[in-house]
Amino acid sequence: MAVRTILHYPDPRLREKARPVEKVTPEIVKLTEDMAETMYAAPGVGLAATQIGERHRIFVIDIAGDDEPSELQVFINPEILERSGEIVWDEGCLSFPTVVEEITRAAKVKVRALDAKGASFELEAEGLLAVAIQHETDHLDGVLMIDKMGMLKKRMVDRKMRKRAADRPRSAST
Ligand code: NI
Repeated sequence: MAVRTILHYPDPRLREKARPVEKVTPEIVKLTEDMAETMYAAPGVGLAATQIGERHRIFVIDIAGDDEPSELQVFINPEILERSGEIVWDEGCLSFPTVVEEITRAAKVKVRALDAKGASFELEAEGLLAVAIQHETDHLDGVLMIDKMGMLKKRMVDRKMRKRAADRPRSAST
C-alpha cells in the first residue's frame, strides 16, 4: 500500500469525469487500499479516486470518530438512487486544505455500489454519511464543493486556493 499525492484545487485533473470500473481486478483492489491509506494519512473522512488523479469511479469513506474503531467503506461504480430532504453541513475537502464552508445537500440518500470484493450492495444513509456520499460522488463527475457555494464565497475560496498554490508551488507534488 502507498500514500498517494492528493491533488489540490485548482488542479484541472479534479475536473475530469471518472470512468466506470468494468471489473474489480487485483489492480483495482490495490487502488482502493492506496486510497484508504491516503485518506487515513491525511486524515479525512472520504477520498475519491479523482483526487489522486485516477479516473475510476471509486471512493472510500470512513466516518468513524477518533475513539471509535475504523469502519472503511469502499464504493465502486456508486449510483445515488434516491435523495430526500435537505441538510446544511460544514464541509471540508482534502482538495481544499483549510477551507470549511456550509453546503446544502440532500439529508438522506440511497446508494448502490460494488464493494472491494465486487459484490453489489445498497445502503441508505443520513447525516454525515449521506453528505460524504454526495460529496465523493460529485468528485467522480468533476464537481467540487466550490461549485455549491454562493458567488461571493466561491470567489473568495477560489482566490484563497490560487494564492495558496502560488505560494507553495510544490504542494501538489509532495
Ligand atoms: Ni472532497
